Amino acid sequence: MTTGVTGPSRARIDVKTLREDRWWLAPLTTFVVFSAFVVYATWRAFAGAHYFSEPYLSPFYSPCLGDCVEGASDFGQPFAWWPLSAALIILIFPLGFRMTCYYYRKAYYRAFWLSPPACAVAEPHKKYSGETRLPLILQNVHRYFWYAALLVALILTYDVLLAFRPAEGEPTGIHMGLGTVLMAINVVYIWLYTLSCHSCRHAVGGRLRHFSKHPVRYKLWTWVSKLNLNHARYAWVSLFSVALVDLYIYLLAINAFEDPRFF
Ligand code: FES
Repeated sequence: MTTGVTGPSRARIDVKTLREDRWWLAPLTTFVVFSAFVVYATWRAFAGAHYFSEPYLSPFYSPCLGDCVEGASDFGQPFAWWPLSAALIILIFPLGFRMTCYYYRKAYYRAFWLSPPACAVAEPHKKYSGETRLPLILQNVHRYFWYAALLVALILTYDVLLAFRPAEGEPTGIHMGLGTVLMAINVVYIWLYTLSCHSCRHAVGGRLRHFSKHPVRYKLWTWVSKLNLNHARYAWVSLFSVALVDLYIYLLAINAFEDPRFF
């Protein structure tokens, strides 16, 4: 029996949608941008090279736990035996976090599976089981990826602090280059994205009967709720910023240009 929009309990409407606006623009944009990011990230993750330009480490490779180039492994190399790119050891965590994100789910269900393509636009599928079965029921692990994402955000913050170090051959003291600025902006958006997560909101304010008895958690919950309003924006901006920082470090690593130093 069909269970989608053609199911017996649904209104009989022959056209795909009654909407006359350009509803297809948002899913099309998502499709193009996500596809471009996937192609870029796949290339960079499998490259296994040009991810470190002292003192900058690409966020795709942080922490660098494999057989990484000298200076890139601030947490040691416990996976030095790993034969493939070091990015593949750790990318499951930020990737899993984004893939199971409530906002991204909405975006890619619409853009890639047309399920549905937009509000009030019929989807082409005959059946609908939502996220109640395998494999989509696995999306519920999102909250666990959120714990990992906190750790990733902390490590990327540490990388920003290290980016104030002088590169080899430079005088000692604090240095700041364009790479430091880009990494700092990126980590701000990574934190905004991570802390505005729906699972974060639940972690700080969920499962309570009385907010009045938990004033600290209530305060945290109100802050996260405000951030949560812009979660989609942080999802997009942090996606761009993380790719931009990686690209910048890649260009430095291949000597495309010199990092402008402010001090
Ligand atoms: S809901 Fe988007 S990161 Fe958790």
